Amino acid sequence: MKTNDTIELLLNRKSIRKYEDRQVDEDTLESLARAAFQAPFAAQLGSLLLSRDSEKNPFSAPLLFTVCVDCHRLELIMRARGWKMKTSDAAMLLFGVQDACYMAENLVVAAESLGLGSCYLGMAPFAADRIAEDYSLPERVFPVVQLAVGYPAEDPPPRPRYPLSFSLFEDSYPELEEEDVREAMRVMDEGYLAQDYYRRADYMVELEGEREETFDFDDYSWTEHMCRKWGQWHAAAENLLGPLRRRGFEVTRDGGEEGS
Ligand SMILES: Cc1cc2nc3c(=O)[nH]c(=O)nc-3n(C[C@H](O)[C@H](O)[C@H](O)COP(=O)(O)O)c2cc1C
Repeated sequence: MKTNDTIELLLNRKSIRKYEDRQVDEDTLESLARAAFQAPFAAQLGSLLLSRDSEKNPFSAPLLFTVCVDCHRLELIMRARGWKMKTSDAAMLLFGVQDACYMAENLVVAAESLGLGSCYLGMAPFAADRIAEDYSLPERVFPVVQLAVGYPAEDPPPRPRYPLSFSLFEDSYPELEEEDVREAMRVMDEGYLAQDYYRRADYMVELEGEREETFDFDDYSWTEHMCRKWGQWHAAAENLLGPLRRRGFEVTRDGGEEGS
């Protein structure tokens, strides 16, 4: 494998959940923002909200970015030329999430390169009503994810990933065999156990229903965590469709229909 400073930076990145009580200066902030907005785009459909209120920000981070899908600005520009959006909201959201996330990840990498750490927070879409109120969001702007940024006060090891053979498929998607699945689970579980990840975090997702608890921190690891998290959390469609609708997005509406 070839490596260089950029590859090393990417391979050593990890989510940071403890931050120094130290502000980020204006020049650094401008670098982060410019690097973020230089990401590839479909239609510049990403914008960032910023909070520097470290007392309120998650993990007391000095910076909290809320990454938004933002159709509002494009529609203002189109209106200035006498045009209306015809493309469906489903398509705009799909492209918008891409623009927003490439932009956010540019910010993450830029932050790393300047000695800053970061951590995404995924619940923003479900909190869209509150975020919209806090930041006076116009319609057609929807928060997709938040990103805490600051100087790290911890230095955990990089977290494991699936083996390449379980993620990179050349020419055709393979039929994944039981042994491939077991190997992926082994790599992830042994990797997280070697870091004592869940014991250090003092966190196991509690079991609901009939299943009996048989795990402790000696064997509770990534696959069990994923199964419990995604196998028990019922994020009802309406919990997303409601906030989307209230921000002016109707995902089942076709492009050009009334109200779009
Ligand atoms: C969309 C998204 C949502 C996330 N939400 C959270 C979150 O709510 N809380 C948190 O502590 N970490 C969150 N993370 C960070 C992941 O837990 C983390 O990236 C993953 O465990 C891999 O660890 P690493 O980033 O250290 O490699 C999120 C990451 C992404 C990409």
